[in-house]
Amino acid sequence: MANVTVIGAQWGDEGKGKLVDWLSNRADVVVRFQGGHNAGHTLVVGEQVYKLSLLPSGVVQGKLSVIGNGVVVDPWHLLSEIEKIGGQGIEIGPDLLVLADNACLILPLHRDLDQAREAAALNKIGTTGRGIGPAYEDKVGRRAIRVGDLADREALEVKIDRLLAHHTPLRRGLGLPEYDGEALLSELEALAPRILPFAKPAWLLVNEIVKSGKRVLFEGAQGALLDVDHGTYPYVTSSNTVAGQAAAGSGLGPRGAGFVLGIVKAYTTRVGEGPFPTELFDEVGQHLGTVGKEFGTVTGRSRRCGWFDAALVRQSVALNGITGIALTKLDILDGLPSLKICTGYRLGDQVFTYLPAGLKAQRSLEPIYEEMEGWAETTHGARSFRDLPANAVKYVRRIEELIGAQVALLSTSPQRDDTILMRDPFQD
Ligand code: IMP
Repeated sequence: MANVTVIGAQWGDEGKGKLVDWLSNRADVVVRFQGGHNAGHTLVVGEQVYKLSLLPSGVVQGKLSVIGNGVVVDPWHLLSEIEKIGGQGIEIGPDLLVLADNACLILPLHRDLDQAREAAALNKIGTTGRGIGPAYEDKVGRRAIRVGDLADREALEVKIDRLLAHHTPLRRGLGLPEYDGEALLSELEALAPRILPFAKPAWLLVNEIVKSGKRVLFEGAQGALLDVDHGTYPYVTSSNTVAGQAAAGSGLGPRGAGFVLGIVKAYTTRVGEGPFPTELFDEVGQHLGTVGKEFGTVTGRSRRCGWFDAALVRQSVALNGITGIALTKLDILDGLPSLKICTGYRLGDQVFTYLPAGLKAQRSLEPIYEEMEGWAETTHGARSFRDLPANAVKYVRRIEELIGAQVALLSTSPQRDDTILMRDPFQD
């Protein structure tokens, strides 16, 4: 198998960035296929910490990086991220970065709408406030401005008119000031010469790369339980985050996904609102948050923390067609005397082995736990499976059994090299 698709198997923040960075060594090109700058990937390489939210993690290794058509792109943010990473010594030009010419843009009016809705308490989802949802709404509403439109002033004018015909009444309803179409046109025209050099038919490039026998690494953002179809709707993001989207969001057919590597945190976290059956409100939850440094990369919000939910990840294994998992942050459990794993849920006299779709049900589920003994030793920085304490090995093996997938990689610290390889996804 030549390609690898990396996706988050829980609610995001599983540590995809580090794994993608580690795997990009073995890949020729890294492709993002959904989401936008709502994602937050932290890469630690020696003393340097890179925080990416829109750029594919491959840029750090100097690998050809593609922002596919499935991504919504805030062009101002893109330029500022390129500048920031440039300041850390990584020059990003059109030879390193390709932007799909058919990707849709996030505009300031999307951010306004996102934030105004969040402020209206009734609709609160706990979004990142970056305009992701409204931009996807305009995409499927067929009124979005796409990257390639920046090259065509006439098309831009017509499109801005159509866009404002939709947004003006919405803004009025939310008490936002009228948006100035002329000003938007000038801003986009000013931006065009800096964005267009990156714009290419990315689908063609990705297909040619695959045909030539090179290896593609697809980098997912967020997590399967935030998927707009399969997640805890409506408390989800606005894109398909599951591995199947790698095909549609890049223009490579469904056979291209290759080895699907699900990134799984050894416990569970979530940012924003929405159901979370194994959430902990006690000192163990606080311990996980503090030791695990569970604060959002994008918004700085504290993440909610809870026990490992095997029922949830088992569902994710199915939804994504996961071939193997990368287990992260096992070391955060070091020192806990006992650990709980959720194996299913109770709702009244019913037992569920999966997360039922209804919001009311999801909110009322009572987790069914099994308990295991913890370990006192440290697993931090372990470089071999043999170095792990016996109880940590038992915990990992039990997770594998319950979710129906095996560990291919184990990450034992944020550092690139603290990674135990059990099965090489690129060799599978
Ligand atoms: P949006 O993607 O900004 O619309 O936010 C929708 C939901 O997805 C919120 O609960 C966010 O906290 C969550 N979300 C978006 N991006 C990420 C991410 O990269 N990691 C974790 N949660 C995310």
